[in-house]
Amino acid sequence: MPSHPLQRLSARAFSAVRRLLAGGRIWIQARPRLSAWFYPHGRHGPKPGYSDYNRRMFAGFHEQERMLADKRRMAFYHAAIDRHVRPGDRVVDLGTGTGILAAWAALRGAAHVYAIDHSDILAQARALGAANHIENVEYLATHSSRFAVAEPVDVILHEQMGDCLFDEGMVANVIDLRERVLKPGGLILPSRFELYCEPVKINDDRLVPFIWELNLNGYDYACLESRRPGAPAYYHLASSDLNLVEHFLGRPEPVLSIDLHTLKEADLPREIAFTRTVVNAGRMDGYAVFFRARVDDDLVLSTSPLDPWRAPHWGFRILRTGRCEFAAGDVIECRLTAGSWHDIDSWNWKTPLATCGVRDENKERPRGN
Ligand SMILES: C[S@@+](CC[C@H](N)C(=O)[O-])C[C@H]1O[C@@H](n2cnc3c(N)ncnc32)[C@H](O)[C@@H]1O
Repeated sequence: MPSHPLQRLSARAFSAVRRLLAGGRIWIQARPRLSAWFYPHGRHGPKPGYSDYNRRMFAGFHEQERMLADKRRMAFYHAAIDRHVRPGDRVVDLGTGTGILAAWAALRGAAHVYAIDHSDILAQARALGAANHIENVEYLATHSSRFAVAEPVDVILHEQMGDCLFDEGMVANVIDLRERVLKPGGLILPSRFELYCEPVKINDDRLVPFIWELNLNGYDYACLESRRPGAPAYYHLASSDLNLVEHFLGRPEPVLSIDLHTLKEADLPREIAFTRTVVNAGRMDGYAVFFRARVDDDLVLSTSPLDPWRAPHWGFRILRTGRCEFAAGDVIECRLTAGSWHDIDSWNWKTPLATCGVRDENKERPRGN
């Protein structure tokens, strides 16, 4: 702790400048036109350094085990490959991990499968392929951006979805491969995705209020309101607890639907405005962000907190807002902006306080307003 008055003063000045810079970044990112000017290129691709983080995260058994143990995820991919990979196809498995999707494609009769991964897990995939007598798979330890083939492939297989759909670089990685190595008319599995951002009520026994809202037997935290954290990460929570969300206030609808066969990065909007008519009256505590992937009408993967059939290893995200009450039939006006869809810390969401007229919980911080 700085003890000299001069030290204390400079520590305070430093922290004020830091808060100002963080606030400035968020303020810019909440303004789509300004944001386009400040962050003109590759705005939905991974941040510098993300690739190294991803490579380390997937190198060990732990992450791979979680994914392989997710029975709904595995059944979705097994059915997708079974239905859509044809004997004789040339396939690339982008981010093969332990090689499972590549192996299933080979067993389905693919003529050649390129199983690529930038992480050290590739060595395990190679060993597993040999131990399971998988033929026609070529294992390549490389980042997808460095992968090239003389003859284009028929199918790109991938599982590049993060909890908030875009946060593992799916769009940039798949589009890059599509443009360079996929045959015209070739197939991307999966290709159709829906992003949801639904106003929710959190179950009372799971609700975590902002710290300054607490008063525990007279011990009042209200003075912390002036010390609201500037860090964006404070304003969203990751969870996979099926008992967290009590209900959606409105009827869920995708706020964004994409098809990787045709999507261009520039097509992703920076700002999405939408409304929800309240069918479940009561308190709103935030938004739940989740996604669905669709291969066929009867083959869908969901990470919704309210789907009992959700693929459990994915989390969903709660974007915290000030709390407010809505009556049935009220229309909630919502707005979501993203500096980069890949980086949830660059997202900004509007608290629909104007509609419900309660105290503006986020008045002093730009997050959630
Ligand atoms: C979510 S895991 C999926 C693993 C496997 N496909 C499965 O379904 O079990 C994603 C894998 O992609 C790899 N990966 C991510 N981005 C990549 C890239 N651009 N190039 C190559 N590998 C990548 C990671 O190392 C990780 O093993």
